Amino acid sequence: MDPTICTQDLTRTYDGTAVVDSVTLTVRRGRVCALLGHNGAGKTTLVRMLSTLTRPTSGIASIAGHDVVTQPDAVRRHTALVGQAASVDERLSGRDNLVLFARLRGRDKASATARAGELLERFGLSDAAGRPVRTYSGGMRRKLDLAAALVDDPTVLFVDEPSTGLDRRARRDLWHDLRALADAGTTILLTTQHLEEADALADDVVILRQGRVVAAGTIGEIRRLAGEPRMELREPSLEDVYLTLTATEVTA
Ligand SMILES: Nc1ncnc2c1ncn2[C@@H]1O[C@H](COP(=O)(O)OP(=O)(O)OP(=O)(O)O)[C@@H](O)[C@H]1O
Ligand SMILES: [Mg+2]
Repeated sequence: MDPTICTQDLTRTYDGTAVVDSVTLTVRRGRVCALLGHNGAGKTTLVRMLSTLTRPTSGIASIAGHDVVTQPDAVRRHTALVGQAASVDERLSGRDNLVLFARLRGRDKASATARAGELLERFGLSDAAGRPVRTYSGGMRRKLDLAAALVDDPTVLFVDEPSTGLDRRARRDLWHDLRALADAGTTILLTTQHLEEADALADDVVILRQGRVVAAGTIGEIRRLAGEPRMELREPSLEDVYLTLTATEVTA
């Protein structure tokens, strides 16, 4: 099957420094791919290029076969981004936010209202739907952010740091929601600094260090990278692999 997300030597430089450096990756339909890396590794920049918000300096990237530079409108139709910062308006109610997002995506008022109602129900926000978002908890805001991204059932969903600021319970709920979306066929690329999150949620893992891919594969393959488990020792944890790959000079 064609990969839904595909990049080849994708690069973005700022002031002559490559912050995303020759990244080649593919993510197949319905997979959850975790982009793992420290602060400044280039995760957000990569996601911004894939969602047409930042122009690549060189290399190519496509979403569902559409090139991010030459076919940005098609890419935008297929994608949605839940950013690191909330995209909803604090002063509006949850319902009004969702109606607004659906209208911006081209729905008429009746259809936007109906879609908002469906999403509020699905994310357990119906009771709070009429309250301004500033009265919502962090977990409720994150759910609303996700709901806003789903007004048009995107083919590919980008989620930048899904669980920042969430407590364990809210994080579990969010993982459950994301998993259900992927099982229904949405391709998800999430960025995270939390190994636990990648481990719990991802089918595939890409580890970035200073803009470069230092490891990529299924979660099982990445764990095995640390070497064969020695007899008396536990299997290498994802954390062992991650710390090794991101802390030491890696020669290709
Ligand atoms: N518009 C910009 N102008 C200049 N430098 C930028 C710009 N955007 C990002 N950078 C730099 O690119 C590097 C990668 O940033 P990016 O936000 O992609 O990292 P990240 O992996 O998402 O980090 P975090 O985990 O902190 O969110 C950083 O050094 C950052 O300062
Ligand atoms: Mg970031």
